[in-house]
Amino acid sequence: MNRAEKLLSQMTLAEKLGQLTMTAAGYAVTGPVIAGDSTEAIKSGAIGNLLNLVGPGPVREMQQLAIEHSRLKIPLLIGLDIIHGHRTLFPIPLGEAALFDPQTWEATAREAAREGAADGLALTFSPMLDVSRDIRWGRTAEGSGEDTWVAVQMARAKVKGYEGTDLSAPESLAACAKHYCAYAPVLAGREYAQVDISERTLMEVHVPPFDAAVAAGVATIMPAFTDLDGVPMTANKKLLRHHLRDQLGFQGVIVSDYNAIAELLHHRIAADLPQAAALALNASVDIDMMSDAYRNGLPVALERGLVTMAQIDESVLRVLRLKERLGLFDDPYRRGSRQEAPAVLTHRRELCRSVGARSIVMLKNDRETLPLRGRLRRLCVIGPLGDAAVEMGGCWGAAGRPEDRISVLAGLRAALSGTDIVHADGVAFAGGDATGIAAAVDLCNDADAVVLCIGEKADMSGEAASRAFPEVPPLQRALAEAVFERAHARGLRVVVVLFSGRPLVIPWLADAADAILAAWFLGNEAGNAIADVVSGKISPSGRTPMSWPRAIGQIPVFYGERPTGRPYNPKDHFTSRYMDVSNEPLYPFGHGLTYGHFVLSNLVVASDELAEKDTLDVRVDVSNEGAAAAEETVFLFIHDKVATVTRPVLELKGVGKVTLRPGETRTVRLSVPGTELRFLGLDLTPVFEPGQIEVLVGPCADRTQLLLRTIQLV
Ligand code: GLC
Repeated sequence: MNRAEKLLSQMTLAEKLGQLTMTAAGYAVTGPVIAGDSTEAIKSGAIGNLLNLVGPGPVREMQQLAIEHSRLKIPLLIGLDIIHGHRTLFPIPLGEAALFDPQTWEATAREAAREGAADGLALTFSPMLDVSRDIRWGRTAEGSGEDTWVAVQMARAKVKGYEGTDLSAPESLAACAKHYCAYAPVLAGREYAQVDISERTLMEVHVPPFDAAVAAGVATIMPAFTDLDGVPMTANKKLLRHHLRDQLGFQGVIVSDYNAIAELLHHRIAADLPQAAALALNASVDIDMMSDAYRNGLPVALERGLVTMAQIDESVLRVLRLKERLGLFDDPYRRGSRQEAPAVLTHRRELCRSVGARSIVMLKNDRETLPLRGRLRRLCVIGPLGDAAVEMGGCWGAAGRPEDRISVLAGLRAALSGTDIVHADGVAFAGGDATGIAAAVDLCNDADAVVLCIGEKADMSGEAASRAFPEVPPLQRALAEAVFERAHARGLRVVVVLFSGRPLVIPWLADAADAILAAWFLGNEAGNAIADVVSGKISPSGRTPMSWPRAIGQIPVFYGERPTGRPYNPKDHFTSRYMDVSNEPLYPFGHGLTYGHFVLSNLVVASDELAEKDTLDVRVDVSNEGAAAAEETVFLFIHDKVATVTRPVLELKGVGKVTLRPGETRTVRLSVPGTELRFLGLDLTPVFEPGQIEVLVGPCADRTQLLLRTIQLV
């Protein structure tokens, strides 16, 4: 009998249910507090896991209660939403996705793990792997955009970064792949609403990132709040127990989302808490986060015969084994017992600044407005996000501290020390007061350049932040239009730094601005990262991981649509189109300008025929015909020209990156295993189907910009 089994044999029912309970904790003046409970529950073993506790002191104090005062001395598992950094906030995940760089994605997760573990934490509720194609949905900010292939790379990178090679190491955190699954396609983009999608879309688009996370060894998985095709994910036995556990062999811990088990009553599939608890346990949800359904409902469910003690024991063993793998039994204080060295913090800050700059997507740069050149006597920074350090933290700041964040104004002043930089908000985020616009616009009268900082407030994206009008708030639009009018009348160009947790619908801005930087929310080093790009110290290199709709009516718009029987044809009225707007997004997936000017040529596919056992080897020459060094990202798509099911018009299969000096040419090589050219056949099982496929390589998901070769799968 191993340690976990031995412990289990000694546990009372209450202690078992305590290991299946996770409750929010905090730290008040009086000391540690437990949401809706007391610390006695830790001593009695009635609560075995916590979330939302921040700081090595409180974490240690809570852990001591379990280790020194409970009967079986089972250590607590303490988790937090470390979504894009712990104290050091990196760009929000959607912004970081713009790097298309799994190595860096892993590196930032590693740093976040080190920092979170240094605070005593052992679990992060990250990565979020929801594939989102609907910018109305606020949690788009937390994911890696519209593409499944990207989400799969993100899953692998983040799990490896958080968990490292040894989950028991003092710098490793257990990761949590969430929200399983298909949360993003909520009805009409409205948060927590129902989800109705085809089995094909579920298995082709939304499940693969979680399969990848399991294959990468993710320690925990969190089901989504949502009801998928009539079955809430928290009670979805088919996708939790059968797919994850029986088919994939996932032996990790499934932790419910916050109060989600009790919310099965609101879903109307449970009449009371015991029934809700039984549904979740039967689906193999191990930990009940915050609903006390397991603690209060499972004893009754046992009596009713809705669950068995064996099922409870199975879940308790998984939780105890996770705590063992984390090394919590061997040394419950190994995390949080060491201060990080100053050099580690310096490296982390430098990484944060670099990742911030590389997350920026330059959407537009007419007449080379950027980088700001020459001696700028005076620069004016206008807009409510110009001096808003707090907002730079984005929607999941968790343990981040506002005082650690750099605003645009501070970053520009540090970078352009010889320039007089003046600022005015012009308008506030809320209310209708436009009286500040005039004074703000007057700053343009005596300036050499204008930087307009507008967009969303950080809390306008993230959880419970769906927007029916995902645009720049109207008051800010009024400010922007007044600035454009005055600046352009004076022959000044306007650089727009646009902050958001999602692509926004901005056709008017795209017309009026001379340059637009999509700056998402870049975390602690936001101002410095933006200044590095605006000043030309670093060329922007980010590529948008989501399509930018031209109109709200286009939503959801994404590059990987199926062909339809009547694909758009401008010469034929009866084809797939709108009467009042183009089908094309304003900016396509992968779009992003640099200070270089890249030309692709000589696309070569190593072989005209490819079997499943082979590898698709592709190379393309990339030249920088611009005047500045920059990093180019090259995308490899395929299109299956004829198959037994309709295939997306483009499917991303690889990404290459190269940094080139002016005049330099290099060859970028991309390889795709033949097995990754399989797709789900009519019966939704993977097939490798002989036939012609197109291989397309280029700067974004715009077929007119892609080099094309056709090969034969055999
Ligand atoms: C929230 C979110 C989930 C988060 C959890 C704990 O409601 O849905 O992403 O990890 O609760 O904070």
